[in-house]
Amino acid sequence: MLRIAVVGATGAVGRECLALLDGGIVPVEQVVPVGSARSVGRDLGRELGLSLPLADLVTLDELDPRGLDVAVFSAGAEVSGREAEQLAAAGVLVVDNSSAFRMRPDVPLVVPQVNPAALDDRPACGLVANPNCSTIQLVRALHPVHELAGLRGVVVATYQAASGGGVRGLRELAEESRAVLDDPGAQGAPGGRFGQPLAFNLVPEIGLPDAHGLTHEERKLVREPRKILGLPDLRVSATAVRVPVFDCHSEAVHIALREPVTAEAVEEALAATPGLRVHRRSHSPAYPMPRTVFARREDRALVHVGRVRVEPEDDRALALWVVADNLWVGAALNALQIVELAAKNGWLG
Ligand SMILES: NC(=O)c1ccc[n+]([C@@H]2O[C@H](COP(=O)([O-])OP(=O)(O)OC[C@H]3O[C@@H](n4cnc5c(N)ncnc54)[C@H](OP(=O)(O)O)[C@@H]3O)[C@@H](O)[C@H]2O)c1
Repeated sequence: MLRIAVVGATGAVGRECLALLDGGIVPVEQVVPVGSARSVGRDLGRELGLSLPLADLVTLDELDPRGLDVAVFSAGAEVSGREAEQLAAAGVLVVDNSSAFRMRPDVPLVVPQVNPAALDDRPACGLVANPNCSTIQLVRALHPVHELAGLRGVVVATYQAASGGGVRGLRELAEESRAVLDDPGAQGAPGGRFGQPLAFNLVPEIGLPDAHGLTHEERKLVREPRKILGLPDLRVSATAVRVPVFDCHSEAVHIALREPVTAEAVEEALAATPGLRVHRRSHSPAYPMPRTVFARREDRALVHVGRVRVEPEDDRALALWVVADNLWVGAALNALQIVELAAKNGWLG
């Protein structure tokens, strides 16, 4: 039985962590919700209808590390960068959802279905990084394909939901959508959570661009899969786009392979992979979609792959369509599966 702190408990990811813990994903003795001073006094148990043993919400300053086994941080990179190492130094395993530590060589970047061996031993620094939401669903689809035919290069275009922008992103999309429906001429103004108006629009810039024009989100999609898959030279080219969808990220993935494949063999390899659901070409529709994936609890826990096709002129060129719930598969669920794996490996608590 674990004592777990959920830092950022009132946020889009934190609330899903609480819901998954309430569902019993790992056995808990107590869960301590942590938020900013703004949230002190909120009764999350009542708000979210939880029945798990939940302590009163505290701030990070008030959080007592004694007796705490794990802290799952989902409060942004600035908060993690400032607070997580101190907690880890006090003996608490920190599983961090932000980008603060992902590329640090001494911090394992873990997707339990892909590189579980990274958690064989407790990291000396006490930190484990949860990858970016788009990275997680990408590597979960790529891993079985790599084992089947070897990856040479990947080109990915993402279609990312508003929930990736947290509670504020979800609220803004709802408010903007209503405003445009009330007044179809309304243009909205630059700014807000997504930099540009998102309702009835597409925004092909997630995070700030670097000197090469790659955005922050695209840099994560290039670098993180290399570390997780153990392929430091893998060529990845990414275009990350925010779309006016509330939940679930989608990805069009084009893969250059070392060995020739057939679509049937790829479907079989994907279907044999735990946690993946293949939407086969023989079924209709032969693809997952954000709304249908989000509609069912069991589907929210899976990575969905469809539109499996091999180019007629090149049997080393594969294309996939991948959809997953960014709040579960891309964040809360992966973080808690890390906790589950650490507990199973016997070095937690
Ligand atoms: N959304 C996704 O799909 C997704 C996926 C993967 C990773 N992530 C990462 O997860 C983190 C959280 O994302 P989100 O989408 O859940 O954001 P969010 O909805 O904006 O929630 C942010 C949370 O951080 C808390 N917080 C802010 N300042 C704090 C402080 N000083 N001390 C304690 N808590 C503080 C907020 O608490 P108050 O309400 O009290 O202010 C809130 O609970 C980010 O690092 C994000 O990059 C998000």
